[in-house]
Amino acid sequence: MSFPDVRLRRLRQSPAVRGLVRETSLEPRQLVLPLFVREGLTEAVPIGSMPGVAQHSLDSLRAAAAEAAEAGVGGVMLFGVPAVRDARGSGADDPQGILNVATEALAAEVGDALVVQTDLCLDEFTDHGHCGVLAADGSVDNDATLERYASMALSQVRAGSQLLGLSGMMDGQVAVIREALDSEGFTDTLLLAYAAKYASAFYGPFREAVDSQLTGDRRTYQLDPGNRREGVREAVVDEQEGADIVMVKPAMAFLDVLREVRDTVHIPVWAYQVSGEYAMIEAASANGWINRRASILESLLSIRRAGADVVLTYWATEAARWLRG
Ligand code: PBG
Repeated sequence: MSFPDVRLRRLRQSPAVRGLVRETSLEPRQLVLPLFVREGLTEAVPIGSMPGVAQHSLDSLRAAAAEAAEAGVGGVMLFGVPAVRDARGSGADDPQGILNVATEALAAEVGDALVVQTDLCLDEFTDHGHCGVLAADGSVDNDATLERYASMALSQVRAGSQLLGLSGMMDGQVAVIREALDSEGFTDTLLLAYAAKYASAFYGPFREAVDSQLTGDRRTYQLDPGNRREGVREAVVDEQEGADIVMVKPAMAFLDVLREVRDTVHIPVWAYQVSGEYAMIEAASANGWINRRASILESLLSIRRAGADVVLTYWATEAARWLRG
């Protein structure tokens, strides 16, 4: 068949036809809002590198979570910024630590309306800024870190977290945390494994958001951006270890990895549209170079089209409102 028998434009002739044949959809329930809570704040403080995003006080955090729930967002992912840090990240598993206190507040505020989720990693709590504890030679000690993660998992679940975001990229983290939870009877806690988490320059603004203490990089545990197969392998291992959901992060610079992971595992696949992706679109639209709302929605759609069932995005509440009309 050739022209004029093949008329591909037939499918694009009107908004109604286009709506009928659109392959990928975006719904509020498929969005998760990351939130930052900082110990000692009495009101929200804007994050300079992420216009429109703030470090929250406990009160402003509750309000932001309530707005997200009201907009129909599927979940919130909570990050804590402690006032004091030490080598082993003691604030992370302290029931009075900021992340656990805030989790309790959110579970009470919105725990029935959406899924309350917590970041499980040591980087915000250590004085050296690494995602784990250090060995005598200064390297990140995988197995010693797993013990800290297991303890952190129990504190977070006791505080009311329904889903743990395992973002530290330590080997065996899913299996060890699953076993720790099972042995205490917490058999219903969802584990989201940041399976394919790359050592990315696009995390830049986030480091300001959590007041990161890191000097150097995370290349001995996060993935090399050149590697797709290795990202897929991480997801396969995490599925075998008992993860309920796997994550690809960042999203837009790794859409090929996302597609391959989606085609390989049999559990939900999520993607994290990270701070640098957010900052790029905000900066370009602030300059009037791109249409803000259209580019935000297109960016989210591209991540869904590549295979993400759910997207973590700092625009979750705003986008959910647009989608509801
Ligand atoms: C580490 C962590 C990072 C992000 C979330 N959790 C990155 C890192 O510093 O390696 C990045 C999120 C973003 O950039 O939006 N626990």
